[in-house]
Amino acid sequence: MLRVNIKEALRFIDRSDYAPVQETAEKARKTLLSKTGAGSEYLGWLNWPVEYDQNEVLRIMEAAKTIQADSDCLVVIGIGGSYLGAKAVLVSLEPYFPQEEKKLEIIFAGHTLSPSYLEELLNYLENKDFSINVISKSGTTTEPAIAFRFLKNLLIDKYGKAAYERIYATTDPKVGALRTQAKELGYQTFNVPSNIGGRYSVLTAVGLLPLAAAGIDIYALLEGAKKAQIDAFTLPFTENPAMQYASIRYLMDQKLGKDIEVLVTYEPKLSYICEWWKQLFGESEGKDQKGLFPASLVFSTDLHSLGQYIQEGKRTMFETVLSIAEPLSDIEITEEDDDLDQLNYLAGTKVEEVNRQAMRGTLLAHVDGGVPNIQIQMHALDEENIGYLLYFFMFSCGLSCYMTGVNPFNQPGVESYKRNMFALLGKKGFEELKQKLEKRLKND
Ligand code: PA5
Repeated sequence: MLRVNIKEALRFIDRSDYAPVQETAEKARKTLLSKTGAGSEYLGWLNWPVEYDQNEVLRIMEAAKTIQADSDCLVVIGIGGSYLGAKAVLVSLEPYFPQEEKKLEIIFAGHTLSPSYLEELLNYLENKDFSINVISKSGTTTEPAIAFRFLKNLLIDKYGKAAYERIYATTDPKVGALRTQAKELGYQTFNVPSNIGGRYSVLTAVGLLPLAAAGIDIYALLEGAKKAQIDAFTLPFTENPAMQYASIRYLMDQKLGKDIEVLVTYEPKLSYICEWWKQLFGESEGKDQKGLFPASLVFSTDLHSLGQYIQEGKRTMFETVLSIAEPLSDIEITEEDDDLDQLNYLAGTKVEEVNRQAMRGTLLAHVDGGVPNIQIQMHALDEENIGYLLYFFMFSCGLSCYMTGVNPFNQPGVESYKRNMFALLGKKGFEELKQKLEKRLKND
C-alpha cells in the first residue's frame, strides 16, 4: 500500500552508520510495542485500528445520517489535533470543483482567533440549517471554546431548546468543561479516549464523525490503518516502511546535522496531510532542544518561490517527497496547428506524466544540489490508502521520538503561550504574570 525509497538519501550516509541504526530502530519498536517508554500512558492509538470501539463507530454513522438529513452545514469546531486530521482527509478526497452541489458542507471553526473569520461565518450561517461538532479533548482550549460560544448562541437563536439536539460533543470520556456542559445540556457525546492524545486521534471520533458526515468511508480508512499497524508491528527492518523512514530521518539529524525536513507533494490535495504531519512531528519531536523542524511545500507551485533556496541556499534540509502511484486523471495535451506556444512536443502526453517528470527531474536536481531525498509513495488516493498513510506516520513518529530520546506524547512547550495569553487577558490566577508581561511589553 505504501513504499519508502531511501536510495537518494543513503548516498549521503556513510555505510558504517547504517548498520547501528537498525539496532536503534528495533529498540525503539520494542519500547513502543511493550509500552515501556516515556508517555506510554498515551499509547491508546497503537492498537486502535484492531481494537476500536465498534459500537461507537455505529453511533457515529447514525449521527452522520441525522446531520446529513437535517443540516446544510456541519460546523466542526476544534484546533490542532482536534482539527487537522479530519481536514487533511477531507481535502485529500474532495474534488477540487464538485460537479454537484454538496449535500452537506463541512466548515471548520475554532482553529483561529480571527474575528473576521468568526463574524463572516456567523453571517454565512444565518440562513442555513446547521449542526455543530465541537471537538476538544481537554474541553478547555480557548480558541474552540470562544467559537463554540458564538455558534451555540446562533443555534439557540434559530432552534430554541431543539438546538441542543444539533450539538455533537467529542471530548474526554470523563473530565473537562465540555463533558460537564454536555451532561448538563444533553448534547450527544463521543469519546476522545483518555489514552490517546490530540495529534494521534484522527482515527477516533475526532476524525471519524466529521468524515462520516461528509460521506467518507470511515470503515475503509480504519481498514487501511489496520494494514499499516500489522506491517509496522511485524515486518522486519528491511521491509518495514515506518522503520526505514524513522531510521533515515534519524541519520539525517544525527549524522548529517540536518535541521529541517521538508515534506513535498506534487498534488495539492495532499497539502493538508502535510499540515497534519507537521503538527504530528513538530509537537511530538520538538522538545529538549531536539528534533527536526517539519516544513512542507507543494510543488511545482513552490518551485517558483522556494525552489531556488532548496537548490542553492543553506544546506540544512532534506526532502521527503510524498507521491501517489495511481494516476488521478488522464487528461492529455492536444496538438495545435500553429504551435505558437511551442508545446507540440508534448502533444499526446498526459498532464499526469508532465507532473511526474517534473518530480523526477526536481528530485535529481535537488540531490545534485546536496539535498538528500526520501520518497514515500502511496498506492492510490482513497480512504484505505490514506488510513494506511496516517497510521504509518504516527508509528514512524513514535519510533523517531524514542530513537532520539524524547517523549512523543506530551507538549509542554504549548503551555507557555497559553499562560501568557491568559495573563494578558486578565484571567483569574495569572495576576502576577500579567504585571511582569505588561512591564516587559511597555519597555519594548
Ligand atoms: O496534539 C495535541 O494534543 C494538541 O494539538 C491538541 O489537539 C490541541 O491543543 C487541542 O486540544 P484540545 O483537543 O484539548 O482542545
